[in-house]
Amino acid sequence: MSNTGFFPYTRGRRLRQSENIRRMAAEHHLHPEDFIAPLFIKEGKNQKEEIPSMPDYYRYTPDLLLKEVEEIVSLGIPSVLLFVKVPEAKKDNEGTEALNPKGLMQKSVRAIKKEFPGLAVMTDVALDPYSSYGHDGIVIDGEIINDESVDLLAKMAVSHAEAGADFVAPSDMMDGRVGTMRNALEREGFRHTGIMSYSAKYASVFYGPFRDALDSAPGFGDKKTYQMNPPNVKEAVREALLDERQGADIVMVKPGLPYLDVVRAVSEAVSVPVSVYNVSGEYAMIKAAAANGWLDEEQAMAEALIAFKRAGADLIATYFAKDMARLL
Ligand code: PBG
Repeated sequence: MSNTGFFPYTRGRRLRQSENIRRMAAEHHLHPEDFIAPLFIKEGKNQKEEIPSMPDYYRYTPDLLLKEVEEIVSLGIPSVLLFVKVPEAKKDNEGTEALNPKGLMQKSVRAIKKEFPGLAVMTDVALDPYSSYGHDGIVIDGEIINDESVDLLAKMAVSHAEAGADFVAPSDMMDGRVGTMRNALEREGFRHTGIMSYSAKYASVFYGPFRDALDSAPGFGDKKTYQMNPPNVKEAVREALLDERQGADIVMVKPGLPYLDVVRAVSEAVSVPVSVYNVSGEYAMIKAAAANGWLDEEQAMAEALIAFKRAGADLIATYFAKDMARLL
């Protein structure tokens, strides 16, 4: 009887008895400002193309993109994270197109910032959408080489900053990229450009639908020599602390749901905001189950998203951003 000794003076159910009291006693809440909305952009005009493995999620041509952004802004979501789909013909090993000042990413950033100057525009910095090998860095003799890739990624970050990006988001997991990027941005006069670093990005199968969206699956091998090994959590803390010291303004854990313990550990270790990426495979799982009538989509979404807040995340990049903001 020892651990029930206070019953009936304590009754947990008192705080659960009505919707209103549950709301009052909730330890965590979701707000539209928690969300970062990812956007997929493709070349061309007047096209909105559904991604087969991501139902209700689309790639937009730049002209239609602005309408989508307008909706995101009107829902109170403060930031977007941009990804581009690059035509095969523009891909090479050095990701030359990534530095094109008139490239799709640079053009899109300029267009969005012109219409919505207050929106925080974040850009993905990694080579994979531009790489003929589908890897995040330059490949030499079958190896994804680190230091040369980092120099290139820093140039890419500067190019995005020149276009008006508020945050660059390196998702490549090369060593030393945050510090190199920070130095390059400072040197070029972009003191206000933030870095949201994918600090603990795991080599995950849950990125599958995203690689469909951008046609960016690795052409050979996998990403295990640079992305993190799923069993590790101390290593995630080490990576996040390193990035913080090198000037990251926000650190990220990715994927989300299978790595909530990592979100918790990182959020306790760093003093910068922590974001989490509720990735494409997590989105696809809920969508697929809902399409089969096996799960209620809205409730599954809301329960998954509040879990990130409970785990200690400050910001959530999610394909559910609009749906959840609407629900709130
Ligand atoms: C590429 C990148 C990936 C994602 C974000 N940036 C895929 C990868 O590393 O292969 C995944 C996002 C998602 O699955 O939603 N550097």
